[in-house]
Amino acid sequence: SGEIGNEQARIAAERGMCEAAVLLQAGDTVAFPTETVYGLGADARSTAAVEAVFAAKGRPSDNPLIVHISDPVQLNGMVAQINDTARALMDAFWPGPLTLVLPVVPQALSPRVTAGLDTVGVRMPDHPIALRLITEAGCPLAAPSANRSGRPSPTLAQHVQEDLEGRIGGILDGGPTGVGLESTVVQAGDDGTVTILRPGGVTAEQLAAVARAVVLDPALVADSPGEDADSPAPRSPGMKYTHYAPRGRLSVVQGPSPDEVAGWIRTALAEARAHGERTAVLAFDEHAASYAGERVYALGKRDALHEAAQRLYGVLRRCDEDGVTYILSEACPPNGLGDAVMNRLLKAAGHRVVRL
Ligand code: TXA
Ligand code: MG
Repeated sequence: SGEIGNEQARIAAERGMCEAAVLLQAGDTVAFPTETVYGLGADARSTAAVEAVFAAKGRPSDNPLIVHISDPVQLNGMVAQINDTARALMDAFWPGPLTLVLPVVPQALSPRVTAGLDTVGVRMPDHPIALRLITEAGCPLAAPSANRSGRPSPTLAQHVQEDLEGRIGGILDGGPTGVGLESTVVQAGDDGTVTILRPGGVTAEQLAAVARAVVLDPALVADSPGEDADSPAPRSPGMKYTHYAPRGRLSVVQGPSPDEVAGWIRTALAEARAHGERTAVLAFDEHAASYAGERVYALGKRDALHEAAQRLYGVLRRCDEDGVTYILSEACPPNGLGDAVMNRLLKAAGHRVVRL
């Protein structure tokens, strides 16, 4: 019966949890679900364990990892100081998709976690499996997204398997993640100003309800972060790498009206096909009918951007599976989660934007 099935599933999950905690205690790596994306966890105090994370991902070692805790008490002895604004943000958004960059206590964590910086990014994830795993392991978990470096972040255990099978200790499968994009990374100044280093699951509007002022890291505002010698170096080191890029050539199309955008995209796709390209379009549901006959990857409803956030990484993986070589995407409205979706989309497109 279903009840026996549920009981067996519960026992299997329990056993998986125990095995995962034991692996982590032994210095191995384990992938686990969070409310944003799957993370690849390791004991943040162990340099060997943290090095195994960098190795499994093929991640550049100058890009620091986020430390995950299950209780703010774990910050004692790990961070040197928490100002009033940082404290207010924790109260408002933890557990949840917000990472705070705080001054780190020397030697509390492996220096590989912080990539030599004097700060550490910390968050308390809002996912029962993640919270339980951190508690059972009995240590803070350094965990970047559980993808090979340069691939879209995983929103399913299957994505982790595709990228990291044979390279890690294990995977806890918690089904699809909720938000679908990574956490918002912020630094809270002593003057009450919150600087967004990476847009994510907590929106600027939500932060503004708690902070005195919210500003974007100037490097995020630059057109092509980190690549141009004149543009400021991003304070979140990860932002300078080309991420999430599908193998096909992706461009984002912006225009005065959805109809004009759709018309331009249809023509461009037909031309690309005439040159032998395998084409696709990323479109919001409201405009899907404009692309009859095209390969359409749906981003969900334009006025419900959490759907685009949930789907984007899966869609980028689909582009590769389907072997598409030329991809055009509609742009996102710049409000709410749109900032984060657009940030990831532009990175996936290598900042190629067509402005009509
Ligand atoms: O939602 C998330 O944040 C996911 C889940 C697994 O928690 N994790 C994640 O980790 O996205 P990762 O390693 O893929 O991205 C971490 C980002 C990078 O852009 C990194 O540069 C930045 O956070 N970061 C980490 N520590 C930092 C620090 N001390 N100062 C500035 N940026 C930091
Ligand atoms: Mg990542």
